[in-house]
Amino acid sequence: MHIRTVEFAGAVARPGGPRPGTLPQIAFSGRSNVGKSSLINRLLGRTRTQIARVSSTPGKTQEINFYRVEATTAAGVRLEFYIVDLPGYGFAKAPEPVRRRWRPLIEGYLSDTPELKGVVQLIDVRRGLTPDDHRMLDYLATAGLPALFALTKVDKLKPSQRAQQVAAVLADLGASAEQAIPFSALNGEGREDLLESIGLLLTGEDE
Ligand code: GTP
Ligand code: MG
Repeated sequence: MHIRTVEFAGAVARPGGPRPGTLPQIAFSGRSNVGKSSLINRLLGRTRTQIARVSSTPGKTQEINFYRVEATTAAGVRLEFYIVDLPGYGFAKAPEPVRRRWRPLIEGYLSDTPELKGVVQLIDVRRGLTPDDHRMLDYLATAGLPALFALTKVDKLKPSQRAQQVAAVLADLGASAEQAIPFSALNGEGREDLLESIGLLLTGEDE
């Protein structure tokens, strides 16, 4: 899939808040600081002029952010969709009122978006799954939402650790190697694979 244009389309800060529109959408979910915004910038080719805000302070993204994308598949099909950056969950240092907002905001979106074609669940490959990740995976399975996994920050692994660490996360996920894409926002590893998988979710060709 080739990305043609990207623009910020709006944000939703409270459950049930007005949405930017009704295009097909792909959401990106994961705990705070796992690398969602960085992955989205890399995916959309916006590493120099970032479109999604990244910070060394966890808990950066506290709203649901929508990016409108125009793309073309390898077969020449034009696609128009939203990339949706969900707020990170599980950030222990966030003020309690902020933490309480996250679940209804995220779960409200996931349960009430007929245009949602799938969720990319991010897992930090060095840390593996947290209890909050397990809760999110259970939620996605119960909701019947198609999920892809991106194992983030693979550039931080030494080559000698890599195979073992990836295998451990896959075992914890109960996923096969084809369902999980090792990704690096730093060097772009995994970008083409992830774009292709997202294209399949959007066109329904994997069904
Ligand atoms: P919240 O908005 O708080 O939910 O965080 P997020 O999931 O959007 O994470 P973000 O993209 O802001 O990245 C968090 C930190 O991890 C930043 O310091 C990034 O530079 C760093 N980071 C993200 N992805 C990668 C990666 O692939 N490799 C390396 N080395 N660092 C990364
Ligand atoms: Mg973010």
